[in-house]
Amino acid sequence: MAPCAGCFLLAVLFSANCKVITFLDPMCTEKEASRAYNCENLGLKEIPDTLPNTTEFLEFGFNFLPTIQNTTFSRLTNLIFLDLTRCQINWVHEDTFQNHHQLNTIVLTGNPLIFMAETSLNGPTSLKHLFLTQTGISNLEFIPVHNLGNLESLHLGSNHISSINLPENFPTQNLKVMDFQNNAIHYISSKDINALEQVANLNFNGNDVKGIEPGAFNSKIFQSLKFGGTLDLSIILKGLQNSTIQSLWLGTFEDTDDQDLTSAMLEGLCEMSVESINLQKHHFSGFSPSTFQCFTGLRELDLTATHLRELPSGLEGMSSLKKLVLSANSFEQLCQISAASFPSLTDLYIKGNTRKLDLGTRCLEKLENLRKLDLSHSDIEAPDCCNLQLQNLSQLQHLNLSYNEPFGLQDQAFKECPRLELLDLAFTQLRVSAPQSPFQNLHLLQVLNLSNCLLDTSNENLLAGLLDLRHLNLHGNNFQDGSLSKTNLLQPVGSLETLILSSCDLLSIDQQAFHNLGKMSHLDLSHNRLTGDSIDALSHHKGIYLNLAANNIHIIPPRLLLILSQQSTINLGHNPLDCTCSNIHFIMWYQENLQKLEGSGETVCANPPFLRGVKLSDVKLSCGITRVGIFFLMVFVFLLIILLIFSGKSILRWKYQHI
Ligand SMILES: *[C@@H]1O[C@H](CO)[C@@H](O)[C@H](O)[C@H]1NC(C)=O
Ligand SMILES: *[C@@H]1O[C@H](CO)[C@@H](O)[C@H](O)[C@H]1NC(C)=O
Ligand SMILES: *[C@@H]1O[C@H](CO)[C@@H](O)[C@H](O)[C@H]1NC(C)=O
Ligand SMILES: *[C@@H]1O[C@H](CO)[C@@H](O)[C@H](O)[C@H]1NC(C)=O
Ligand SMILES: *[C@@H]1O[C@H](CO)[C@@H](O)[C@H](O)[C@H]1NC(C)=O
Ligand SMILES: *[C@@H]1O[C@H](CO)[C@@H](O)[C@H](O)[C@H]1NC(C)=O
Repeated sequence: MAPCAGCFLLAVLFSANCKVITFLDPMCTEKEASRAYNCENLGLKEIPDTLPNTTEFLEFGFNFLPTIQNTTFSRLTNLIFLDLTRCQINWVHEDTFQNHHQLNTIVLTGNPLIFMAETSLNGPTSLKHLFLTQTGISNLEFIPVHNLGNLESLHLGSNHISSINLPENFPTQNLKVMDFQNNAIHYISSKDINALEQVANLNFNGNDVKGIEPGAFNSKIFQSLKFGGTLDLSIILKGLQNSTIQSLWLGTFEDTDDQDLTSAMLEGLCEMSVESINLQKHHFSGFSPSTFQCFTGLRELDLTATHLRELPSGLEGMSSLKKLVLSANSFEQLCQISAASFPSLTDLYIKGNTRKLDLGTRCLEKLENLRKLDLSHSDIEAPDCCNLQLQNLSQLQHLNLSYNEPFGLQDQAFKECPRLELLDLAFTQLRVSAPQSPFQNLHLLQVLNLSNCLLDTSNENLLAGLLDLRHLNLHGNNFQDGSLSKTNLLQPVGSLETLILSSCDLLSIDQQAFHNLGKMSHLDLSHNRLTGDSIDALSHHKGIYLNLAANNIHIIPPRLLLILSQQSTINLGHNPLDCTCSNIHFIMWYQENLQKLEGSGETVCANPPFLRGVKLSDVKLSCGITRVGIFFLMVFVFLLIILLIFSGKSILRWKYQHI
């Protein structure tokens, strides 16, 4: 009887009354309360009643609305943005948006439009952006343009438009962007361009323009013009004679079977004024100094993926060029770009080189104005970097060496670039000869990305000298024994504001590990194996954004809740949290501080089994003794008394019998 009674008592005392409250998810997801909703891909045939009248931003794509009319959206008169992508809309009836005076953007992309009534777009007089991409339009007359005087961008890509001859009353006074890409426009006349004079940005990519009337662009000024994917570029360049263009996009696409570029084809460039040109993915047939003869006025040149193995040395007159993009080419050695031809460069991009790129020595030494250098993803291997390789780059501010092969870094490896503000070495294995700091002289460095560098984190001098470092990413580097100890590599970087230590396989953090990081405001410790105890390390910090997602936190004892309370935002998602009474203080704190917590959808119970997967915010625990508990307790005490009386009697009886 006795052990059983014990069980009974325990059962009573710990009879926690757990109740789970779940909410029925509404069909549309709320992105911002009473303003922004997403109802995409729900098979809806009408606007659901659950959407409030106050909705301003509505993503309603991938539903089924074959006709839309004045009743369809009549309730939602506050709409500002309406996305109706691929709703199988055929008919847009009269006055569909009659009371939608604030409507600014309508997206009708991917609807097979058969009919749009004259007055269908009458209501939204402030309409600025209209997307009619992939709607089967073949004639601009189809678009009901009354009252669209405020239109700023009109997107007509992937249709069957063959002529850009605008109808008489077409409202161009505020139009800034017209997108005609992937239509069937083969000829452009002076009249067409005169009508589009106001429109600063025109996109004719993928139209295979075969003719432009001579003089059509004479003394016209554009912000950006795109003629990508044209088979014969010389037609375009001749046609653009005497125009002024800020940015000219003449790249081509993988599936375009265009002609190789010759110096003769590019001659037209000499007859216009262009600031920036993009020739991505073209082939040059033979590259000589004369190829660049009409590039001399350029400020920006993009030659991404143009199959280059070298640039000829001795190019002349390229001294206005500020930005050069040579990404995704096939250089073997950095000196093959003939950097000396571009003495004014401030930005140089050579990322994703398709061959192993050798940095050589002093290849960039003439680029004394270089501010930004991107050499990422270029298979670079450098056993002893980077002073010879980056010699004379004294103005360099941004250096991207991420995603390369192993780099060996000696003491003061970036001595040649003392003005560096950002250094990205992510995913490049670093071999640092301890105990020195390769970054010693980088007093101006603010951002250092060392994620996945396979660092030796036990080198306490690694970051010495980084007096102004604000942002440090150490994601994916491991620490000895999985612990961040009291003395660690973070000691020298007291000005740090953002510290990323995610996926570092950390098991514990010493209470003093961050004691000198008084300015820290963002700490990412996600994807480690930390327990609740590591929160102790933040006892002297306040107002931190703290990410502890995907760790090994089961229980957070009351003394640590004080430390959490003084931080600004906390993410505890994907932890194996305990939802029993031994964690009741934490659960109560959690529910009282929901406004501080991020990722509450992923913050769920792991234990006890019957609560697994339930959101912490929905759990109701009562850990006192319940009424049923009190009843059983009284019954138990009563039984115990009877038992005592009986046993007392028996003992007395036994005693008397043996006198
Ligand atoms: C919609 O149009 C019909 C026919 O023109 C009209 O009778 C009805 O009043 C309109 N509904 C609204 C909500 O304006
Ligand atoms: C929403 O608008 C409809 C039609 O305009 C109206 O009947 C309804 O009362 C409004 N609902 C609310 C909650 O204001
Ligand atoms: C370009 O301008 C020049 C000088 O003003 C003029 O002679 C020439 O005819 C113009 N070219 C075209 C195609 O209009
Ligand atoms: C290095 O840059 C300086 C200006 O900072 C320049 O005068 C000098 O010519 C450059 N050195 C070499 C070897 O090009
Ligand atoms: C460096 O290059 C990589 C890969 O091209 C890119 O993902 C990263 O954003 C770049 N870093 C910076 C700071 O722009
Ligand atoms: C390295 O970190 C910087 C700063 O957060 C970021 O801009 C950059 O994209 C990161 N690099 C890579 C390769 O992700």
